[in-house]
Amino acid sequence: MPLLRLIFPLLIASSALALNPPSQIHLSVGLDPTKMNVQWSTESPTENGNSHVLYGSSASDLSMTSEGGSYPFTDGGDEGYTQHHHVATMTNLEPSETYFYKVGDDEEGWSDVYEFIATPETGTMGSRGPLRFGVWGDMGSSNAAILSSVTEEVAAGNFDMILHVGDFAYNMNDDNGRNGDVFMSNIEQMATRIPYTVDPGNHEVAYDFSHYTERFRNMPVNAVDTPTVITGNGEAPNNWFYSHDFGNVHFVAISTEIYFNYPDLVEAQYNFVSKDLASVDRSVTPWVIVHGHRPLYCSCDSDCDTAAETVRLGPDGKFGMEELFHANGVDLYICGHEHNYERMYDVYNGTSTRSTVNPPATTYIVTGDAGGPEKHERFKRPKPDRAAYRTAAYGYSRMTVHNDTHLYWEQVRTGGIIKDRVVDETWIVVDEHGPF
Ligand SMILES: *[C@@H]1O[C@H](CO)[C@@H](O)[C@H](O)[C@H]1NC(C)=O
Ligand SMILES: *[C@@H]1O[C@H](CO)[C@@H](O)[C@H](O)[C@H]1NC(C)=O
Ligand SMILES: [Fe+2]
Repeated sequence: MPLLRLIFPLLIASSALALNPPSQIHLSVGLDPTKMNVQWSTESPTENGNSHVLYGSSASDLSMTSEGGSYPFTDGGDEGYTQHHHVATMTNLEPSETYFYKVGDDEEGWSDVYEFIATPETGTMGSRGPLRFGVWGDMGSSNAAILSSVTEEVAAGNFDMILHVGDFAYNMNDDNGRNGDVFMSNIEQMATRIPYTVDPGNHEVAYDFSHYTERFRNMPVNAVDTPTVITGNGEAPNNWFYSHDFGNVHFVAISTEIYFNYPDLVEAQYNFVSKDLASVDRSVTPWVIVHGHRPLYCSCDSDCDTAAETVRLGPDGKFGMEELFHANGVDLYICGHEHNYERMYDVYNGTSTRSTVNPPATTYIVTGDAGGPEKHERFKRPKPDRAAYRTAAYGYSRMTVHNDTHLYWEQVRTGGIIKDRVVDETWIVVDEHGPF
């Protein structure tokens, strides 16, 4: 009791200094390596409407400034819970250099100062060795089995970017939207430090994907023919499908949910992916990696097959993704949705040559076992020929791009007797990238 009496006035004093402080801060790669996008949330609108980021090359010299925009976001639940998102772009960055930043406002409070490394120059490996990606899907606000392990990895500087392939929080709209806040706070320690790249999953469906769309406004949106999408919160930048480079890798995000919820957007997304893949210069970004939430191939049960076929071939055998991946030589397709891990070899039209050296088709990987209230999806069917390794144990993947030809893939199991054990690993070697 005496201790509480002592602390209580201090708490009041410190909150008075920051009336409307930033929270849920997270980075995203920008449209090119000279940019990094940062997004955060405040409870109330900021007084002057401004959203500031101060940044620079040392923690004590945040001499660069950028102004962003401020966007009210109202959850669709009974309470009408509203928060204010802010998105700002740090510009004029030197690729691969270290920067420090803080976000907020003089009157209403600043965030802590965080540190990040700018994206490597497109077409290079940058100056820091292999590019290292932490990859997973399907992580809840509760039972986030991998969270402490990946948070430690990021703190140790082991990753340059995170790829979270859909299904966040279970669900972000729960508890009148506050479960989304819990999730964004859970990842903040990682996402203030390295870009957190996403695509939408089926658990984001509420209010026409408003939580996904608004909370990840800072993705590097670039679909010129479909610049915006409409959600329960109104019009917003199209972060349902977009693409960006990271060093010698070209990433394409797709929304597999469009196939199930938005028949009117199926062709638009197909056209975007088709044009985007065709325009990649493989002498600049040899690796092309597409990520979405649902698989094109999976083997746990018959339910997964039905949905996979829709994404693979398209609703009426039109506008499916497989043909695009094959015709354009997509090296990897990474997804989640099934709460398990299944690394496949090259697959085309259901057949595989089981190769990891110059595979003649796209390699498919399901990594959807980060942990959430739905727990595991067990494999109820025998392992098909195309699968290299399957497990339904909680874990996450590490993808390390060593150079233009060599990529290393690992699956880390976080539970079990030995914590954080690599249970699957392989080199994927591609000497000549391009159409299969
Ligand atoms: C795909 O495989 C089926 C048999 O499983 C075959 O009938 C069909 O012709 C194949 N299509 C292509 C485009 O290779
Ligand atoms: C690419 O990286 C692999 C693995 O580190 C190495 O064996 C190979 O020699 C490298 N290739 C080139 C061209 O540097
Ligand atoms: Fe899912």
